[in-house]
Amino acid sequence: MIAASGLPCTAGIGLRAPHVAHVRELRPPVDWFEVHSENYFVDGGPALAALDAIRADYPIALHGVGLSLGSADVLDGGHLRRLKRLVARIEPAAVSEHLSWGRVDGRHLNDLLPLPFTAEALDLICDRVDAVQAALGCPLLVENISAYLRFESDAMAEWDFVAEVARRTGCMLLFDVNNVHVNAVNHGFDPLDYLAAIPGDSVAEIHLAGFDATGACLIDTHGARVAPPVWSLYRATIARFGPKPTLIEWDTDIPPFEILQDEAAIAQSVLQPFDAIAA
Ligand SMILES: [Fe+2]
Repeated sequence: MIAASGLPCTAGIGLRAPHVAHVRELRPPVDWFEVHSENYFVDGGPALAALDAIRADYPIALHGVGLSLGSADVLDGGHLRRLKRLVARIEPAAVSEHLSWGRVDGRHLNDLLPLPFTAEALDLICDRVDAVQAALGCPLLVENISAYLRFESDAMAEWDFVAEVARRTGCMLLFDVNNVHVNAVNHGFDPLDYLAAIPGDSVAEIHLAGFDATGACLIDTHGARVAPPVWSLYRATIARFGPKPTLIEWDTDIPPFEILQDEAAIAQSVLQPFDAIAA
């Protein structure tokens, strides 16, 4: 089965620098990879050459962390041009960014910062998503983020904000199940309410990752195995939306590649029965 994004409805793995040589040399049996777009904003060199070589054998999703869609600053034209150039070169199966901001007065903050869930912020981010989709000439997948604060000015629930972005712009959603769980625990809502509000047809990809639970709140570290409650929410997500391309994200304390394959196999075991029904 092929998803709306062009990715297969199977489990993929986030490809990070420590595993590039392994993947390039051994061509492990992984259905698809996702990479961070900004790591390849270069005109040449070994990293881009490796990505070209891997792209010859695997579908690739480009996942952006620096476009700052929700910033009050004007959209960074240079960043968008570099992304467009990379899209033309790699011909990815999906291009995604976050519903967040990280740029102010021309200075870039290296984080995915939360937006207030207001009509004004909704207008702004929908304009930006429209502009990016027009520039790229393809649908953008936008991802819900983990956030550790809420604003007094919030006028709607997070899930209504996310669903409205998809409805107004026609963009696709990258539904991060771990981020929903982290926010549900930290802010005290029922993740099934979130799930119920999201239009399943708009979901083109899912993210799974691990969090840190040693402090006063859950921190979305991408540095551990997917936690049992996130697997439960993932099963509920697939039951509601049907099979969706699902990525294992791991960005800190990156383990041996086999651990990532093991996590992907668990996700695949959730997807498999649905694929059999579709076939
Ligand atoms: Fe994610």
